[in-house]
Amino acid sequence: MQKREQWGSKIGFIMAAAGSAVGLGNIWKFPFTAGQNGGGAFVFIYLIFIVLVGFSVMLTEFALGRRRQLAAVGAFKSEDRRWTFVGIVGVLCGFLIMGFYPVVGGWALAYIFKVVAGLLNNPETIGSSFDAFITNPGIPIIWMIIYLVINIAIVSRGISSGIERAGKILMPLLLIILIGIAVKGLTLPNSFEGVKFLFKPDFSAVDGKVVLAALGQAFFSLSLGMGCMITYGSYLSKEENLVGNTGFITAMDTVVALLAGLAMFPAMFSFGIEPTAGPGLVFVVVPILFAEMGGAGNTLATLFFIALTVAALTSSVSLLEVVVAYFIDEREFSRKKATVTASTIMAILCIFSSLSFGGIGPKLFGKGAFDIFDLLTDKIFLAIGGMMICLFAGWKIGKEELLKEITNEGTLSYSFLNIWFFLIKYIVPVTVAIVAVNGILDGFH
Ligand code: PHE
Repeated sequence: MQKREQWGSKIGFIMAAAGSAVGLGNIWKFPFTAGQNGGGAFVFIYLIFIVLVGFSVMLTEFALGRRRQLAAVGAFKSEDRRWTFVGIVGVLCGFLIMGFYPVVGGWALAYIFKVVAGLLNNPETIGSSFDAFITNPGIPIIWMIIYLVINIAIVSRGISSGIERAGKILMPLLLIILIGIAVKGLTLPNSFEGVKFLFKPDFSAVDGKVVLAALGQAFFSLSLGMGCMITYGSYLSKEENLVGNTGFITAMDTVVALLAGLAMFPAMFSFGIEPTAGPGLVFVVVPILFAEMGGAGNTLATLFFIALTVAALTSSVSLLEVVVAYFIDEREFSRKKATVTASTIMAILCIFSSLSFGGIGPKLFGKGAFDIFDLLTDKIFLAIGGMMICLFAGWKIGKEELLKEITNEGTLSYSFLNIWFFLIKYIVPVTVAIVAVNGILDGFH
C-alpha cells in the first residue's frame, strides 16, 4: 500500500480545515439565513449550537478520521460494515452540495469581473442586474464551469501542494477585507439598527423552522455531518492536538460569520434594504456599499469578490475531496480520474440548479433544483449525518478508544472530555432528532 499523503505542516492543516469551514456558508448563507429567520434569536440559537453541537461533532470527526487514517466511507467500513452507509450518505451529500455550491461560486467569480467592468457606476441598477444575471440561462453556467475547473486543478494535484497552498495565502486576506467592510458599514447613518437586528434576540418569532435553520447552518458552516472533517482528519499526523485544532477552527468560522453579518446588516439598515432579501444579499448590498464610497470603492469591491471566491474555493475543494477520496480509497481510481468523474456529475447537477433561477427545469413541492439540493443537505442530511456519526462514535467505538485518539495515547489531558463524550453519546443525537422532527413538521422554508 502507498504511504498515505499527509499535510505538509501544522499551519497548513489548520488553514485547510478552516478554509473548508469558512466559505459561502459564512459570507453568503449566514447573513441571508439570519435575515430570513428573524435576526437576533436565530443568531443566538446558532451560537449555542456551534458551542454544544458543532465543536463536539468536529472533534469526533477528526478523531474518527485520524484513528483509521481512512476517509469518510473507509472510516466506518473498517470498523463495522453495517455502518458503511453513514459514509456513503456523506459522499452523496458531497454530490448534492456540489450540485449548487459551484453555482454561487461562479456568481462570486463573475462579480470580480463585473466590478472591474464598472458595476458600481450605476448603484440604482445593482439589484436588478443581479436578478437579470442569475436568471439568465447561459452565462452563469459558463461561470460555474470555470469555477469547477479551478476546483479540478486544485484537487487533482493532491492534498498538501494544492489545497494547502491556496488556504495559507488567502484566508488571512479574507479576514482583513471583512473587517474593513464591517468598519465602513458601522460608520453609516442608522447602522446601529442593523447591529440590533443581528444581536438583540426576539424569541417571540422562534418556531421549529428557525431552530432547524440554526442547526442546519451550524453543520453547514462548520463542514460537519458528511465526513468532510473525517476525510481531512485522515491526513492528519498523530502528533497534532485535535482539541486545539477544533477550538481554533470553530472559533475562526464563527468569527467570520459574525463579521459577515456585521459587514452586511448595518449597511442594509442604513440603505433601507429589507433584511429578508435572500440569496442576492451579498451580491447586492456589498456593491451598493462600495459604490457609496466612490474612489477606493472599486478596488475594495474587487478585492472583496476575490476573497469571496477564494473562500468558496477552499470549501468546495473539501467537498470535492470527500467524493474524490471515496473513488480513490474504495474504487481504486487514480486521483485524476476520480476528480474528473466526480466533477462531471457535479457540473450536471449544477446546470439544473442554475437554470432553476430562471424558472426552467423540474420542480418538487414548488421548489427548483437549487432549493431542493440546499434543503436536502442543509436541513436534513447534514444534521442526520452528524447524529449518526455521534451514535457511531459514542456507542460503537466507545469512550476509551476515542479518548486514546484525542489525547494522543494519553500524552494530553482535558477534563472537559467527559462532558464532550456525554454530549456526543446522548445530547447531540437527541437534540438533532427533536429539532429535525419539529422543523420538518413545521414545514421548512
Ligand atoms: N462549510 C462550508 C461553507 O461554509 C460548506 C461545506 C459544507 C464544506 C459541508 C464542506 C462540507 O461554505
